[in-house]
Parts: sequence; structure tokens; C-alpha cells
Amino acid sequence: MDKRILVVGATGMLGEPVARHLKGDGFQVRILARDRNKASKVFDESYEIVDGDVMDEGSLEKSLDGCFGVHINLSGEIEQVGVETVVSVAPRKGVERITYISGTSVFEENTWFPQTKRKFLAEKTIRESGIPYSIFCPTWFMESLPKYVREGRAFVFGKQPNLYHFVAADDYARMVSTSYRLDNAVNKRFFIHGPEGMLFHDALRQYCKEFHPEIKKISTMPYWVANIIARIKGSKEMKFASEFMAFFEKVGEGGDPAEANRILGAPEITLDMWIKQRRDRM
Ligand SMILES: NC(=O)c1ccc[n+]([C@@H]2O[C@H](COP(=O)([O-])OP(=O)(O)OC[C@H]3O[C@@H](n4cnc5c(N)ncnc54)[C@H](OP(=O)(O)O)[C@@H]3O)[C@@H](O)[C@H]2O)c1
Repeated sequence: MDKRILVVGATGMLGEPVARHLKGDGFQVRILARDRNKASKVFDESYEIVDGDVMDEGSLEKSLDGCFGVHINLSGEIEQVGVETVVSVAPRKGVERITYISGTSVFEENTWFPQTKRKFLAEKTIRESGIPYSIFCPTWFMESLPKYVREGRAFVFGKQPNLYHFVAADDYARMVSTSYRLDNAVNKRFFIHGPEGMLFHDALRQYCKEFHPEIKKISTMPYWVANIIARIKGSKEMKFASEFMAFFEKVGEGGDPAEANRILGAPEITLDMWIKQRRDRM
């Protein structure tokens, strides 16, 4: 029997491909699910689904039974506390490996941004746990692009003059899964950057050309306009997206992907390839 990995946040946009790659690579995959019904619509019976919540130590105790590793894919306010809870339970369950999705901009000098601070502290907790780990610091995912199309309009907040090496979730998930097989992937932070540097506007234009041909122009929404609209609409999602892009415009894409590429195999999926794959799946 191959090793068992618990995936926390497997129903998430970036957790699901990791669970699938682990399975495809021969691991036994256990899914921690807050909502079993939702999880069983995503994963068939070859995945083991267990009820639980990352904030509840008791359910984590049970879910980590017999697990070699745990992959953590959380977002938002619970991220740091969720990681701390996993790390507090994992040693007594004999967990031998933790993988975790952080971000490409997670450096101490950027911790003025709350999300980055949570990720920075979550990473610190993992590093100090004594459990071998691989921390993944990916840049923007191609899978994020659809979120910037709303009500027949495609828009980017701010001017976004920086180049980003958009990465496909499939490439990232393959790298996470590979890390579980390699001793030299242990106790490292891996920066995951895709094969081509692009402006956000150009990436979104390319995406829209295929999936929203009716949209002829990528709009640029100034941050102050986005903030006013978000306030009027009471949209927390828009407020966060605008703040997040302002943060990225300021700090850019950080880290050097050379070590990740050398050890885990560089991402190969270009935006063009990703668009074709997505179209074929539809
Ligand atoms: N998008 C990008 O370009 C990008 C780039 C770099 C890094 N990242 C990072 O990637 C991470 C994951 O993103 P994502 O898009 O996959 O997030 P997501 O879709 O919001 O997924 C979050 C997952 O966490 C689970 N979850 C939430 N609360 C939980 C709890 N109390 N107990 C157990 N599970 C819980 C959710 O399960 P339910 O199904 O129960 O809700 C869901 O499966 C984020 O931290 C993000 O910052 C994203």
C-alpha cells in the first residue's frame, strides 16, 4: 500500500488538482471535508472522505490517523490558525511531511499586507514544527483569470505594469505531488512561476479572446473607483480583489523559481496551452 496523504481544502480551486495528482501518482488520498455531500460530488469513491474541520482538533486527530503527509490548502482569515491547528496535532500522529500553499510575495517586508502576514506566520509555524516540509510559493494562477470577468466586462484593478509568470494549477499540483517522493524537496520553499512573463491585461485579453469573444476591451479600473463601487455594493470580494492587486502592483512577483524547477521539473503549460485544455474539457 502506498503512503496516505490528507488534503485539507481539497474542494478548493487549488486543492482539488493536488488531490488528483497525488492520487494519479499512486498515493492514497484522504479528503478532510466540512461538507461530505459537496466533497463527494467532486471526488469519487477511490478517495477517502472524512468529516472534519481544520479548526477542530478532535476531527484532525482522527483524520490524520495513519497519514504520512498532510497538504494544506486554505484561504482567507482562517489560514494561519488552520495551519497552527494542523501543526499542533501532526507530531503526535506521526506525520512525516507537510506541504502548504503560500504565495510568491510572502516575505517579511511585505507583512504590512494582512494576507501576507497570515501566510508568513503560517510558514514560520511549519518551519518551526520540526516536521519535514515543502512550502509552495506560487505566483498568479491561470485559473484566477475567469474571476476578472463579470457581467459582460473584463477588468483589471490598477495599471498592473509588472510581468507575472502565470502558472497552471496542473503544473503546480504535479510539483506538489512530486515533492512527496523526493528527499531533496524537504525543508524548502519553492517559488512556482509559469513559463512566460505576461502583463495581467494581456493574459486576460488572451483568455477573453477564446471564452468571451464579445468582450473587445480589457478595462482598467482605478483603485479608488473599485473601492467606492465595493463600498456601495457591499462587496467584500471586490474590495479584497482591488486591495490584493494594489499590493501586487507595489511589490511585484517575488522569489526565484530556479530551485523548484531543478528539483521538481519546471512548469511547461503556457497560457495558450491552458486555454486549449480548458476549451477541450468544456
Ligand atoms: N489564486 C491565485 O492565483 C493564488 C496564487 C498563489 C497562492 N494562492 C493561494 O492558494 C490558496 C488556496 O486557494 P484556493 O483558491 O484553492 O482557495 P479556496 O477555493 O477558497 O479553497 C479553500 C478550501 O479550504 C476549505 N476550508 C475552508 N475552511 C475550512 C475549515 N474550517 N476546515 C476545513 N477546510 C476548510 C474549503 O472547503 P469548503 O469546500 O468546505 O469550503 C476549500 O476546500 C490561498 O491561500 C491563496 O492565497 C492563490
